Amino acid sequence: MEVRHGLIERLPVESASVDWLISNCVINLSQEKVRVFSEIQRVLKPGGQMLVSDIVVKNLPDWLRRNDRLYAACVGGAISEEEYLAGLRHAGLIDVEVRNRFVYEASQIKAFFQSEEIPGLKEILDGHSVQNRENMIHQMTRNAVGNVWSAEFYAKKPVKGN
Ligand SMILES: C[S@@+](CC[C@H](N)C(=O)[O-])C[C@H]1O[C@@H](n2cnc3c(N)ncnc32)[C@H](O)[C@@H]1O
Repeated sequence: MEVRHGLIERLPVESASVDWLISNCVINLSQEKVRVFSEIQRVLKPGGQMLVSDIVVKNLPDWLRRNDRLYAACVGGAISEEEYLAGLRHAGLIDVEVRNRFVYEASQIKAFFQSEEIPGLKEILDGHSVQNRENMIHQMTRNAVGNVWSAEFYAKKPVKGN
């Protein structure tokens, strides 16, 4: 085994040298996802395969997307499942599919909102009664449920002539 230190937008790996590429919860953090998908295509050997877990989102409101801490929490920079699949195909990978999904439950999302980890949220809630705050968090949770999950993506680099 050899460990190399680098960025996913410029993998420190020779072209067509990798049998399997795996990653968990990193690509959502990149602001150059097209480049990352193209790097995956570059480093895989013909016939090489990829299995990547990542957070995906649906209809994430802009005010949450702009939030730095939510970006660092792997949600703000996440794209949709459709964009992910299209990005991998556009890079030239084949057999692209979602193999598994882990959908966050309401209780997990609510706990995240209640933890006050999201800057700006405290200001929104401040000045409201305890009951109103509870209602607002309940409403935000309802909006988020089903709109953020972890997906496992599979893809393969075609062998020549495939
Ligand atoms: C949520 S952690 C996931 C870590 C690990 N894969 C795991 O499953 O526990 C995200 C990691 O991605 C790294 N990271 C973020 N942007 C990166 C980039 N452009 N290139 C390489 N690593 C990056 C961060 O430093 C951090 O270690």
